[in-house]
Amino acid sequence: MEVAIGSDHAGLQLKKELIVCLAVEGHTMLDCGTYTEASCDYPDIAETVAGQVLSKKIPGILVCGTGIGISIAANKIKGIRAALCHEAFTARMAREHNDANIVVIGARITGAGLAEEIVKTFLTTGFAAGRHQRRVEKITALENKDGEKGSELGLY
Ligand code: RB5
Repeated sequence: MEVAIGSDHAGLQLKKELIVCLAVEGHTMLDCGTYTEASCDYPDIAETVAGQVLSKKIPGILVCGTGIGISIAANKIKGIRAALCHEAFTARMAREHNDANIVVIGARITGAGLAEEIVKTFLTTGFAAGRHQRRVEKITALENKDGEKGSELGLY
């Protein structure tokens, strides 16, 4: 399957290893950067990968130092459900229960072997739908409220 992948500088080495590992498994890897060790800003990478995920309806992989910043950024984009995973169980749940379309790894937290297990689990697990369908639809509904709850509360 085609898979979009991107990292900032902190995730570059792990991203390279994941590309090799997943290409060997037969996946077509769409590398959205970064391509050098030069410091860059993870929201830019999150936006590029998210664009590919949404337009091509393919899964995505994001990597930064902790996985936190790039998850926060990706989840600001309508239609993206990015899940930061530290082991295979959460990767499986992210697909089965949350229909996540991007798996996120923290390269300074998770070693290459475990990261490979996480992404392989993510790519081979389907959405369970059923009762989870309604909940995922409610996540989408939240996106479309455009901050209405926050403004009701006078938060912004
Ligand atoms: C980069 O130093 C680091 O802040 C970034 O990779 C990530 O961990 C942010 O959440």
